[in-house]
Amino acid sequence: MNKTTNTVDLAAGIRRMDEYVVHPWASFDTESGPNTVINSGGGVYVYDSDGNRLLDGPGGMWCVNVGHGRREIIDAMAEQAARLSYISPWSHPTEPAARLAERLAAISPGDLNRVFYTTGGSTAVDSALRFVMFYNNVRGQPDKKHILTRHDAYHGSTYLSASVSGKPRDKNWLDFETGWIHHLSSPNPYRRAEGMSEEDFCDHLVDELEGKILELGPEHTAALIAEPILASGGVIVPPTGYHARCLEVCRQYDVLYISDEVVTGFGRLGHWFASEEVFGIVPDIITVAKGITSGYVPLGAVLISERLIKEVGGEPDRGASFANGFTYSGHPVACAAALANLDVIEKDQMLENAREVGPYLQQKLRELIDLPMVGDVRGLGLMGCLECVVSKESRQPLELDYDVGKRIDSHCQALGLLLRPLINMCVVSPPIVISREQIDQMLGILRVGIERTMVDLEREGIAQFN
Ligand SMILES: Cc1ncc(COP(=O)(O)O)c(C=O)c1O
Repeated sequence: MNKTTNTVDLAAGIRRMDEYVVHPWASFDTESGPNTVINSGGGVYVYDSDGNRLLDGPGGMWCVNVGHGRREIIDAMAEQAARLSYISPWSHPTEPAARLAERLAAISPGDLNRVFYTTGGSTAVDSALRFVMFYNNVRGQPDKKHILTRHDAYHGSTYLSASVSGKPRDKNWLDFETGWIHHLSSPNPYRRAEGMSEEDFCDHLVDELEGKILELGPEHTAALIAEPILASGGVIVPPTGYHARCLEVCRQYDVLYISDEVVTGFGRLGHWFASEEVFGIVPDIITVAKGITSGYVPLGAVLISERLIKEVGGEPDRGASFANGFTYSGHPVACAAALANLDVIEKDQMLENAREVGPYLQQKLRELIDLPMVGDVRGLGLMGCLECVVSKESRQPLELDYDVGKRIDSHCQALGLLLRPLINMCVVSPPIVISREQIDQMLGILRVGIERTMVDLEREGIAQFN
């Protein structure tokens, strides 16, 4: 049996066994086609079971920030697992968890110095929201419980984090908390009303936030949760000044501001965190995951303001405890991976690289706007998205049935690039070590992938581009 037969058999075997796996967002109505089996990775590339090299456009899932195969992280995990693989976080501090918390406190904005460890982003968001409930209960304000969020947000897949998410299609077949969770408009400038300026759009969004707080009553409104850039909603960059003005409104009415930096943290926008460095805000709580370990192993965290912690502490007789935590909170191997990940980012000056090549990615992406199917190109730093439309004038999206994102992805894969298709959109968020040459390669393939998809859609009579 030669090598090719071996790998083909292996891939076929994996696909057969994979039928036992229920994947995220599974549909049981249709047989989804076999996905490419990825066997290995190095730097910004991964390799499929046939040995084809693919540029990892989505950086795993917005998470493989330092790239694949970094020996320092692998070794740190192995050493920690050999020394101490686990001990209960209820009863014992560990060196990696303590060191990481101190380091996160040092790089986080303002007084966000207290770290609650979780298992990922959803549990970080869930825990942040539960902390807000706890905070208001302890402060003697048990009616201050309403949470504000936005349409198009994605905050995770626990019941609570999914309830504050706002992607319309995800809401169809599951149940959610609705009574005390309120969705404000998506801050998507591309979808603002015809003829409205971006400044007026921002005024409208801020007024809407204030109006909602006044309608519910500040005494009932606990927090606003917001991604700095709405990631899975389609890389939506809110209008200039939006975050700072929203924070101002929140402060005015004693409403906490939770910044969900699960995607934007750890270098994606060229800084450890985007809240302060990019958007000029110091929120009350920041949630992180993904890039904290560059996806080598699961970990999440809630960074909480010292001020909030002080407000709920100091009365030993009260017996209040934040009864929330996970077996794997602050897992020593995950924290060791995170520490090594931070070292790698620093040593190789990856934040600097992201700041240098991010604008180049944005410039090259925007060149795709000349393609008739591309209605909008948006993004910031190393997050980008293109949105496909029937016509640029109507801005009418090319809908789900045509799977245009998946079609583009499939052409791109054949050419050596992985994308993240999102209905009529395609997202890129490559490892932050990407070079200009690799960005050129990525965008060159993307252009051809879109052109080929347009030809397909026209041939099938689905759309006519001119
Ligand atoms: C902004 C944001 N928050 C939370 C989550 C949930 O993170 P996880 O999938 O690690 O639970 C995600 C996942 O994509 C996310 O993009």
